[in-house]
Amino acid sequence: MRPVPALEVRHLTFRYYENGKKNIVDDLSLTVEAGSTTVILGNSGCGKSTFASVCAGLYPENGGFLESGEIELFGKPLSSLGHRERSGYYALMFQNPDLQFCMNTLRKELIFCLENICTPPEDMEPQIERVASDLKVSDLLDRKFSTMSGGEKQKASLCCLIALGSRCIVLDEALANIDRESAYDILEMLKKYSAGGGTIIAIDHLPQLWKGLATRYILMGDGCRIIEDNIRPEEFDNYKELLRSEGVWGEYSGKAHTRDGETGFAISLKDFSVRKDPKDKMSEYLIKSSGVGFRKGRMTALLGKSGIGKTTTFLSILKQHPYEGKIEIDGRDLRAIKERELFKTVGIVFQNPADQFITQKVADEVMAGASKTLTEDEIEKYLADYGLIKKEKYSPYMLSQGQQRRLAVLSVLLGDQKILLLDEPTYGQDLSSTEAIMRQLEEKVDRDHFTVLFITHDRELAEKWADDIVRIEDGGFVS
Ligand SMILES: Nc1ncnc2c1ncn2[C@@H]1O[C@H](COP(=O)(O)OP(=O)(O)OP(=O)(O)O)[C@@H](O)[C@H]1O
Ligand SMILES: [Mg+2]
Repeated sequence: MRPVPALEVRHLTFRYYENGKKNIVDDLSLTVEAGSTTVILGNSGCGKSTFASVCAGLYPENGGFLESGEIELFGKPLSSLGHRERSGYYALMFQNPDLQFCMNTLRKELIFCLENICTPPEDMEPQIERVASDLKVSDLLDRKFSTMSGGEKQKASLCCLIALGSRCIVLDEALANIDRESAYDILEMLKKYSAGGGTIIAIDHLPQLWKGLATRYILMGDGCRIIEDNIRPEEFDNYKELLRSEGVWGEYSGKAHTRDGETGFAISLKDFSVRKDPKDKMSEYLIKSSGVGFRKGRMTALLGKSGIGKTTTFLSILKQHPYEGKIEIDGRDLRAIKERELFKTVGIVFQNPADQFITQKVADEVMAGASKTLTEDEIEKYLADYGLIKKEKYSPYMLSQGQQRRLAVLSVLLGDQKILLLDEPTYGQDLSSTEAIMRQLEEKVDRDHFTVLFITHDRELAEKWADDIVRIEDGGFVS
């Protein structure tokens, strides 16, 4: 007899109401064996997150139309399972950890989780200590989530799912927004979970991260159409060409280059320091440095571990975080520049693009960013370049993660701010979108002499596109 699979999907067809007749998941059939680790690859916008959410029962419950299909979790029809049972079988972990917690510390969150599955009160403390120590996150138990870095929050969030005893954990780009060290810690946690029989499904744009763990890769195309169903890790190299031609993954094309010549600095930080807690003038320093300069008309990559102060540096440059020392924009003291004037000079794309949309429609969002009025044809062309074709009437919130990020980058690129700060402009992007974003930034630098400063965790990306690489290490800037 065939062992019961963790997930069995037959002829699944789903669409959102807003997409007209387009099926986002189009007649998908798929089996995931219990105890396996399956990595799903596919273009941004091809429907991966939608598929994962439908299997969790989030859709059509929260909208959309399930035209056909059956979903079974560990042999039980999804429709026959209540909410609590479902999460015991299939738990989703998202890219944005802030969405997942109800309490303010991991210990309280774990108590809340264990209460939900009716754990006797006397068993709770020992169980919490054990799972935290097993997963090496004991030091996180009593820290407030608000003081944790993205990577730490993801570790906490995985700890909760494992404590809940979920038999299958689905990671929807859960590693896309954190530094590599945290990603490796999480992979270690997952290895333990897998060794104990847990099933893992990972949706990710970085297949090589999963090398030691994956038992199978699946390549999906538009509508979650299966292009390759069973790529074994030992055969992965045979599929490199296919992944590249599908624009999903591969080495970046083009050559690394540096622009020569003296240009002066667009932004200079002098004796620059910031404290960990902006509200407490006596708190420890996060950065205490002699400073650094970012060259005008050049691309600079800013690297460094999660939580080291990259985003805080951006916020200081935007006058959104108190600092000590001096910041100069084009040689002028930032303290003498009014906010309104500053935002005409400096454009920003935040780490979480959903925080910055200001309109209800994709086309309006592009317009709002643009320095001149655009015709419908122009907007259409820009959207096509960014893989956002036919999305102009959508709300930005109805875009996939990758599409939201591209929209945010596009709208700031169309502005006429000469200095652009981008916090992880390419996370959660497939290969072709990453290259498209970087090419367009490059064009702005070469043609319009913009200064681009981007934060990234991707060293290869930095080496390929940046003129200068600056690292934040031990509270200082190293270039
Ligand atoms: N709530 C929604 N309402 C309407 N359309 C949506 C909604 N969420 C996503 N879509 C559309 O469905 C398609 C698939 O989105 P989905 O988020 O599943 O893609 P994805 O493969 O996970 O992409 P990414 O790699 O960028 O995360 C996209 O074209 C998107 O615009
Ligand atoms: Mg997605």
